[in-house]
Amino acid sequence: MIAGRQLIYLDNAATSWPKPAVVAEAMTDFINRVGANPGRSGHRLSIEAGRVINGARERVAELFGAGDPLRVAFGPNATAALNLALYGLLRPGDHVITSSVEHNSMMRPLRDLETRGTHVTVIPCDQTGMLDPAAVEAAILPSTKLIALTHASNVMGTMLPIAEIGALVGRRNLIFLVDSAATAGIVPIDMTEMGIDLLAFSGHKHLLGPMGTGGLVFGARIEPGQLTPLLRGGTGSRSDAEIQPTEMPDAFESGTPNASGLAGLSAAIDWIQAAGLDQLGEIHSRHISNLIRGLAAIPGLVLFGDRNPLLLTGSVAFTINSCDPGELGFRLDESHELMCRVGLHCAPAAHKTIGTFPTGAVRFSPGAFTTDEEIDMAVKAVAAASEEMLK
Ligand SMILES: Cc1ncc(COP(=O)(O)O)c(C=O)c1O
Repeated sequence: MIAGRQLIYLDNAATSWPKPAVVAEAMTDFINRVGANPGRSGHRLSIEAGRVINGARERVAELFGAGDPLRVAFGPNATAALNLALYGLLRPGDHVITSSVEHNSMMRPLRDLETRGTHVTVIPCDQTGMLDPAAVEAAILPSTKLIALTHASNVMGTMLPIAEIGALVGRRNLIFLVDSAATAGIVPIDMTEMGIDLLAFSGHKHLLGPMGTGGLVFGARIEPGQLTPLLRGGTGSRSDAEIQPTEMPDAFESGTPNASGLAGLSAAIDWIQAAGLDQLGEIHSRHISNLIRGLAAIPGLVLFGDRNPLLLTGSVAFTINSCDPGELGFRLDESHELMCRVGLHCAPAAHKTIGTFPTGAVRFSPGAFTTDEEIDMAVKAVAAASEEMLK
């Protein structure tokens, strides 16, 4: 609610809003009460700051079934985590397999690595964005080192068969990197059960933490030494040495961390656990189902992704015949107080897959605080805005 008007925020796939109140409270408390640089000094405030960060590590490790909290390397966002994994692992001559629905935080590093001699195979997904595990298996070469996939498309919400592919990656002794930016916080993720070696996450999307939080979680099968750090510098540990420490997480956490942000992320994960990840996921699925049902009834509206809401998460994407998505988004904002994202969603490959490149689509992504009433209002707003545009 802003100045007495009810805003409908359906852009949680970009970043979640609002956040649970405890997030800002924890950040304010950290800044006002603790404030020191963790792991740098021996005084009590520095020790307390380290304790707050370790608390965040424990929560993230538990949430993702990662076991050892020291295997969580924090960074500013999922993009930094994916860059660390890709540049850290891939060398000229290595082969990597990915999908045609990846976000540019996966595709751009891969396209750059390709110019440096890494071989990249992009497996085409079908028109709903679904990936066939048999096609992944068929693309494996003797030089294949890594399979790198998003857990779900950030455009049409299609969930990729991660556990199935994780099992085949394990059988073939490859490394499996998963981008959980679109799913963490609404879909349960267990790295061990799903065979994930490296999990990139965003703290600020469905995990409900503040911007500037994210990281890369290392599974039990991968040795930290298999990755070269992207950044080197002060870690607060081994200050006598001029070379980067190799211990986790310091090897990948140079420089002062976003400690107040991580205090907020801890509080957000506690909030999610108290609300129940399963319950939040169920409410989310209901919103996705209701969006699909409501939007599909609007004349001229084309929905992308599968119609089975169980195969989708995070977002719903659509276009309306002869309505420019940009103009539709503008009208939804101006006349209907509805915030969404239009265009290509930093995922040109996904839009090519569903046939909406280069004009893009409209994306609605509900969040933890979205109500049934807002979903209803959003559907009515699309019907009204498209009617106005088609007049
Ligand atoms: C699927 C996917 N991967 C990666 C990212 C990048 O996340 P971040 O903004 O945390 O870097 C996004 C952001 O929209 C995304 O949707």
